[in-house]
Amino acid sequence: MTAAAIILAAGLGTRMRSSRPKVMHPLGGRPMIRHLLAAVEARFGRVVVVVGPQMPDLEAAVAPHGVAVQRERLGTAHAALQAVPLLDGHDGDVAVLYGDNPLVSAATLGRLLAARAEAELVLLGMRPTDPGRYGRVVTRADGMVERIVEWADATEAERAIGLCNAGVVCAAAADMARWLAAVRPDNAKGEYYLTDVIALARAEGKRVRAVEAPEAELRGINSRAELAAAEATLQARLRAAAMDAGVTMMAPETVFLSHDTRFGPDVTLEPHVVFGPGVSIEDGAVIRAFSHLEGCVVRRDAVIGPYARLRPGTVVEPGAHVGNFVELKATTLGAGAKANHLAYLGDATIGAGANIGAGTITCNYDGVNKHRTEIGEGAFIGSDTALVAPVKVGARALVGAGSVITSNVPDDALAIARGRQAVFAGRGFKGKGPARPDERSDGAERTAAAKEQN
Ligand code: UD1
Ligand code: CA
Repeated sequence: MTAAAIILAAGLGTRMRSSRPKVMHPLGGRPMIRHLLAAVEARFGRVVVVVGPQMPDLEAAVAPHGVAVQRERLGTAHAALQAVPLLDGHDGDVAVLYGDNPLVSAATLGRLLAARAEAELVLLGMRPTDPGRYGRVVTRADGMVERIVEWADATEAERAIGLCNAGVVCAAAADMARWLAAVRPDNAKGEYYLTDVIALARAEGKRVRAVEAPEAELRGINSRAELAAAEATLQARLRAAAMDAGVTMMAPETVFLSHDTRFGPDVTLEPHVVFGPGVSIEDGAVIRAFSHLEGCVVRRDAVIGPYARLRPGTVVEPGAHVGNFVELKATTLGAGAKANHLAYLGDATIGAGANIGAGTITCNYDGVNKHRTEIGEGAFIGSDTALVAPVKVGARALVGAGSVITSNVPDDALAIARGRQAVFAGRGFKGKGPARPDERSDGAERTAAAKEQN
């Protein structure tokens, strides 16, 4: 029997002080709700997400899963109840999860479902270093759970309990629907608390168990500080996985990965490298310090940086080099090609073995449209060249330094497009500065000569 999951995500996230729904804040480059969905999809066959009114971005982010709208935010049990009609006909288990607990693992959700064999209601618990304002799990001598007391309603003795409610409960669908409908808002906040289903189950004589998991997986995100703590946990996981897969990092704590960053073996990452979403780095490539990469592919043995920026649509072919202060966007840099210093290469295709001089710019945007630049194999682009797109430079062509290239250059041709240098003797700068040789010996004579000329 497949289990169903209800994910609560209608809250405003007041403590985030944000105009966007809390669960849309990113962790490792994707909205936190997508992290939770990835774990949930691994264990649950059906998913319904409870959203608030006017949250179109959130609805789009959870597609293709069902969405229930909670019009008034009356509490977590009320939110879960909104999803029940969408699960009509489901007679397996149903779990309720919070969208702001995004780091729970599929393995832990598996243990939650397995524990249902021993209890009618199972919840996830944790023992945080600082239990703060989490709901406390009140257990009996035999370890069975009696109830959950919210921090706001707890006595001093109850606040001293170390076992906290992580916010995930699981039961048979019919039981869950009955308990949710029975919750009453008689508590300090006047809300319908999901946590009250525990006492309702106990009142029917049902067994309730807590499955414990590490705080790192179960911490809730209510504030920007907690978002940063969750990001740190996720980054630590991603770095460990990358190193397990054969990546060398000199200072892993300074490297920021995205949830989907892919590495081949023997990749080296120097300190202070940031990966946005959609990056793949192949075997033996080296990403040097202070580089920023997103939406790009770096093929084997390529060297990027230091201080390089690779933007979406970039492919760096095997053995190519991208050096300091070089930016690539929607550009393919051919095998063994080099762009080592101070360049902007956008919407370009650069052939194998080409050499792009310092200060080369593709002028790809005319203010309205983007145009492409094509550079053939083995071409040599002199320093400080502006390539006004659309334009093609042929294979093995040579472009003189300082050129503004506005028309195509054939294969094997030399192109120079700059003003010819003119030299005028004696017409140098006459302002302040060190004396010229003719001034040093006899100032008076020179002044007289100058007067004569006038
Ligand atoms: C909740 C638990 C607390 C637990 C903690 C774990 C309750 C009453 N308390 O507290 O025991 O220790 O999580 O992190 O359940 N939501 C809605 N509609 C609502 C209210 C909330 O969809 O009307 C959603 C929120 O978007 C959020 C989740 O439910 O994703 C939890 O709500 P939140 O207000 O963050 O509960 P906590 O105070 O953290
Ligand atoms: Ca919360």
